[in-house]
Amino acid sequence: MTTPTLHPSLEHLAFLVGEWQGLGVVGYPTITESRYEQEVSFSHDGRPFLAYISKSWLIDDDGARIRPAGAETGFWRPGKQPRDVEVMLAHPTGIVEIYVGEAVFTQIELASEVVARTETAKDVKAFKRLYGLVEGDLAYAVDMAALGHALQPHLSARLQKVG
Ligand code: HEM
Repeated sequence: MTTPTLHPSLEHLAFLVGEWQGLGVVGYPTITESRYEQEVSFSHDGRPFLAYISKSWLIDDDGARIRPAGAETGFWRPGKQPRDVEVMLAHPTGIVEIYVGEAVFTQIELASEVVARTETAKDVKAFKRLYGLVEGDLAYAVDMAALGHALQPHLSARLQKVG
């Protein structure tokens, strides 16, 4: 099958497309800081959205995987204005998020507009995410307001393009 052409409304998100892999650090006041490995995929089929899948594993000091950690999947969509971005994500922990934000060159800033939780999910209130290209790598940071704590860092990582 030929590779579909990226939908013109996704031009501001084109830099995300591909397979990414790299390392990050997870922390929060309630948990022990750890390092993680992550695989991320942004793909498209010619329609005006990117499909997104992320998997991660906690790793030990030698970089060996200890166990699976955060996973999320969803869709990145163009918004009303040319630079606008809408993101919908679902997590296996009973959390669903809708983000809105803006792409400026190769940097995207997102703020959660809706955070919905199942009855058994942890008490998360809000998120902010910042994604950007750094020397060809995809770097990001995620701030989280949860368990009564104000918005503060939970994740940061730098991923290399692998496909
Ligand atoms: C690369 C992605 C992520 C990694 C590696 C990660 C890792 C962790 C780890 C290791 C913990 C400690 C508890 C545990 O072992 O499960 C944790 C807690 C938590 N994470 Fe994440 N996480 C990730 C993404 C996310 C995302 C996207 C959200 C929000 C939807 C989230 C929300 C939480 C919450 C609410 C807690 C509970 C804190 C507590 O109970 O004290 N995490 N995370």
